[in-house]
Amino acid sequence: MLLTTAIDYTNGSPHIGHAYEKVLTDVLARYQRLCGRPVYFLTGVDQHGQKVEQTAAKEGLSPEQYVAVVTARFRALWEKIGVDYDGWAATTDVRHKSCVQDILSDLKEKGELYKKSYEGFYSVRQEQFLTDRDRDERGGFGPEWGEVVEIREENWYFRLSAHTAWLQEFLEKNDVILPQFRKAELLNALQRNAGTDLCISRPKERLRWGIEFPFDHDYVTYVWFDALINYISFAGYGGKNADLPDFETIWRDTVHVIGKDILVPAHGIYWFCMLHAMGFADQDMPKLLVHGWWNIRGEKMSKTLGNVVDPDQLADAFGVDALRYCLVRDISTGKDSDFDVERLVMLFNTELANELGNLCNRALNMSQRFTGGVLHCHFPLEDVDLALQQSLADSLAQYSEAMDHFDVAKALEALNRHVVHCNVYAERMKPWELNKNPENSNRVATVLYHLAESVAHCAVMLSPVLPDASAKLASQLNLPDLLSRTLDQLSWGLLENGHIIDKPHPVFPRIVVAAATES
Ligand code: MSP
Repeated sequence: MLLTTAIDYTNGSPHIGHAYEKVLTDVLARYQRLCGRPVYFLTGVDQHGQKVEQTAAKEGLSPEQYVAVVTARFRALWEKIGVDYDGWAATTDVRHKSCVQDILSDLKEKGELYKKSYEGFYSVRQEQFLTDRDRDERGGFGPEWGEVVEIREENWYFRLSAHTAWLQEFLEKNDVILPQFRKAELLNALQRNAGTDLCISRPKERLRWGIEFPFDHDYVTYVWFDALINYISFAGYGGKNADLPDFETIWRDTVHVIGKDILVPAHGIYWFCMLHAMGFADQDMPKLLVHGWWNIRGEKMSKTLGNVVDPDQLADAFGVDALRYCLVRDISTGKDSDFDVERLVMLFNTELANELGNLCNRALNMSQRFTGGVLHCHFPLEDVDLALQQSLADSLAQYSEAMDHFDVAKALEALNRHVVHCNVYAERMKPWELNKNPENSNRVATVLYHLAESVAHCAVMLSPVLPDASAKLASQLNLPDLLSRTLDQLSWGLLENGHIIDKPHPVFPRIVVAAATES
């Protein structure tokens, strides 16, 4: 399976929107591995285009120097917050350039490209030609297009319109757009766009920073046409590079994780039509997992509003665990959410520090204190023990179901339900009271065994989201192989009778806001 994110524009710094998509995809990739399914996780940067050329010029740098600086910023952040990708797609890479050029030559040979002259309006900000359909109700071009100029130009076009009838039928018959509700939006857009071809070149006199056309050296490739191809050029398409994966193997079951703003027209129309023109069969079309946006108090994040949230600073102030947890816990995949630092702290403190932290503390600390760190389950079990085991089985099933549907927030809710169940069980069983009477020693051990066994399962379920915290729990449980087993190998009894745990240390220390904001 190939899991990809959108490749981020290198004309600015990463914000929490970028971080969310990368962490979400990282979590999904780690979950696939946890299920024992092979997965190749590809992410990267979109380095060409007019905006990059302009920003570089403003900063007094060449585009090459500028993208090198910004790319390093993205890579450093992904490393810091544990985004563990397999492949890095940077569109200035020679392997990508040569793949784009091969595809252009191939499409030209197939009669999919033609050159024509066009006179009309062009949005400098969006780097695209505008038609009357893009006008607002007052007949003008709205602020979303930025500066609009009139130009007359000869360019290369891709026969997009030759593929839209196929695309409409394909989308109607197949569930490749997730969540489902985005499909209607795409089909509407497709009807509005049918009949238009796509301009895929820019004359060098206007833009130099792009991939040169192999058969017309006065032109570079339109940035979206170039960028979309990253999904195959870095997945081994064309089979020219031994250092890239085997395309046939990894392309099966491809999922592109993208934001809602780039479904129409780029991914939902251009990309499907490009693949179709290249000869990809229906069963080889990727799925699009379309996520929503993080906003700030209902507003879009923007430099102009000065409300851009920097994930790097959040990680420094509150820790990587709190950031990763909030990014996938406080948004339902597909929907929008409001980002709020207070919620980040609240979620960490209630769900991790209080609930899960409390469970770990009870299971591991009390085992050290009351049974010398030795775990033992004594029979017969009581109904409350069996109910706890049932709660864990339910939680595991709901967790897998949610993760299989890319719904990480729901999966974490299922995990948390079991954690709460365990804490209620502990409060009801009161091992600290039971332990006062030596006659209860078997019962104390059995209760602590149930708690520790739950911690082991929770560590595995939590591992795609918080891999480092899970590794710490596995180590304190003295189960070094815990995280190398697959989800279907999880069953009650991970801890053998007589198992000795290691010294416990708090894994989810409470965030103290004053201290965090002062630092
Ligand atoms: N370079 C293009 C993608 C090319 S893919 C072949 C691009 N880059 S971007 O940097 O503007 O956005 C990268 C990803 O971040 C997109 O999927 C976009 O939807 C996502 N997000 C940007 N802002 C976001 C939020 N505020 N919230 C969540 N994700 C958002 O588009």
